[in-house]
Parts: sequence; C-alpha cells; structure tokens
Amino acid sequence: MSNILVTGGAGYIGSHVVKLLTGQNESVVVLDDLSTGFEDAILGGATLVKGNTRDRELLDKLMAEHKIDTVMHFAAHTIVPESVEDPLKYYGNNTVGTHTLLQACQAANVKNFVFSSTAATYGDAPTGPCSEDMPTAPINAYGMSKLMSERMLQDLDPVCEMNHVILRYFNVAGSDPDGEIGQSTEKATLLVKVAAEHVVGKREKLYIFGTDFDTPDGTGIRDYIHVSDLAAAHISALKYLREGGKSTLLNCGYGHGFSVREVIETVQKVAGPTVNMNVEEQPRRAGDPPSLVAKVDKIHKTLDWKPQYDDLEIIARTSIDWERKLLEKRGG
Ligand code: UD1
Repeated sequence: MSNILVTGGAGYIGSHVVKLLTGQNESVVVLDDLSTGFEDAILGGATLVKGNTRDRELLDKLMAEHKIDTVMHFAAHTIVPESVEDPLKYYGNNTVGTHTLLQACQAANVKNFVFSSTAATYGDAPTGPCSEDMPTAPINAYGMSKLMSERMLQDLDPVCEMNHVILRYFNVAGSDPDGEIGQSTEKATLLVKVAAEHVVGKREKLYIFGTDFDTPDGTGIRDYIHVSDLAAAHISALKYLREGGKSTLLNCGYGHGFSVREVIETVQKVAGPTVNMNVEEQPRRAGDPPSLVAKVDKIHKTLDWKPQYDDLEIIARTSIDWERKLLEKRGG
C-alpha cells in the first residue's frame, strides 16, 4: 500500500493533482498551512494536516503515522515580482522548507519524490526553446530558491534510496474543466487569471507589462500549459518512479509560446463581443524575461503523458468559467 504526502495540496496546482490521485483511489495526505490554499479545494476525501514544511517535528510525526512512501512537493511561494522585493521570504519558505522536508524524507526512507520546479530557473533564456541541459541562470529569487531545491535533490540522489522527478513548469493556466476547482488565489498576478478577473468585472483594467521586449510584437512570450495537463504529468511521473525509473529532470510545457497580446486577444474572443476589455500598456515588470518556451522532447520520451488541453481558447474558457464560479461563491 502506497501513501502519498502532497505538500501544498490545497493550492492551485496541488489541488488538481490531489483530484486526480484520489480519483484513482490513492491514499493521500495533504500538508498545507492554508496561507494561500483553500480547504474546500481538497477533493476526494484526502486527509488535511495543517502545517508548514519547515516544521520538522510535524513532518516526522505525519510520515510515521501515515507510513508515507511518496512525496509530491508543491508548497511554495510563487510570485516572481514579490520574490524580487522580499527574497528571504522565498529562500525561507521554498529553499529552507524543501531542505527540512528532504531531511524528514531521508529519515523516513521515502522512496519517491516529485518536485514542482519552474522555468524561472532558466532566467534570461536565449530565444528558442529551453532544453533541460541548458545552463541555468535565474534572474529572480523565486527561480533561485527553486534551483537550490533542485540541487539538494540531485546531491541527495546518490546517497539516498529515494528517486525523484523534477518537473520544471512553464506558465500554468486554466482551471479544472469539470468546474470543481480552479485558481482561487487572492491578489493574483498571473496573466490569464488576471485577464479572466477583468472579464467578469473584478478588475477595471488589464495591464500589459512591457511592450519593448525583443519579441515579434514587443510583449513577453510564455508557454502556457493547462493545469489539468500539468496535473496529469505528475501522475505519469509517479507511475514512472513506481516502475523503477531513475531520478530525472523534465520540462513541463507544450513547446510553443504566445505573447501577452495574443493571450489578451484570445481571452477577448472567448469572452465575446459583449465584453469590452480595457487594456493599458505599462513599463516592464521587475524580473520578467522576454521569452520562456519549453523544449519538450525529454518529457515525451520519458513519461507516458499526452496533453489533452493544448489550446489557448480552452485555457481562457476554463479560467473565465472558474472566475464566474468564484464570484458566485465569494461575491467578488
Ligand atoms: C509564471 C509563474 C512562475 C513560473 C513562470 C514560468 C506564478 C505566480 N508565476 O510567472 O512561478 O516560474 O511562470 O514561466 O505562478 N503580464 C502582463 N500583465 C499582467 C500579468 C502578466 O503583461 O497583468 C505578462 C508578464 O509581464 C509576462 C507574462 O504576462 O510577460 C506572464 O506573466 P505571469 O502570468 O505573471 O507569469 P510569469 O511571471 O511568467
């Protein structure tokens, strides 16, 4: 019997993974301090333990009580501009949190570890898709906090029985197509989420941060991946590890990018002619690279993973649908 600890399982990406895991009758314990996550996002009867990954005592206790043999680690702060303003918040929660969690995993003989990493580890990537063997050069504390965590896992690998899959996420967007969960984050900063909030009237304006990048239309380019496809990649990574797969690092994106202007045009198209989006151009935001697109050969060679929602319109529609639900639930 396998027991899986999902840190950050009440958050945006973690909750979509918990939904898939419990849907497959996996035994799941969520560790979440609910600082940005929501208890009602945890579906399928997973057990919630309220707490933080820096609490070693709590970790030891729950690893033993629930006989954890697999960890999926999502708990982290993720906002790039905030990490530029408050780097120690990121090194504390993300890097120190992962360090403490890894100590507890080693002590408890955990066998499998799936880690949420980020394309922000590449930094100012040269134009063209980023491959996993490219040099990393984060340009913000968020990316560095995750890169340091990757490195701890890689250094631990030869001296510990635990195998890991590191998934470097590109730009996660969209919400559960069944409409049960979605991105509920307060004070959101992500482009698609913010655009969906604008469509439902939660924001008066939508800003384009930077129109002078060295890209075809001057705005930033990102590889937007639907959260349910990303969640499915975690299930495939787990299967890979259970079948004896070696520790590895994989990009997780679709392999093609869209500019900020293209995203806004798609959101406008999906929202329909009754919505008149109010878009304003602004200077660049601190820490933003011009373009981040994944090279995806390795993930397709390594995992049995077939994306289902590689379509910007589906991403926009599920985001807007979820935003309408949130309005009903929270009233704004
Ligand atoms: C996101 C992730 C980060 C990940 C990165 C990988 C979060 C909070 N951020 O950051 O963890 O490492 O993807 O690529 O999960 N933009 C606007 N107007 C807005 C918001 C954004 O023009 O209102 C622009 C940005 O300048 C950028 C693009 O849209 O060019 C995407 O920004 P955003 O959605 O905030 O994601 P990232 O900063 O790329």
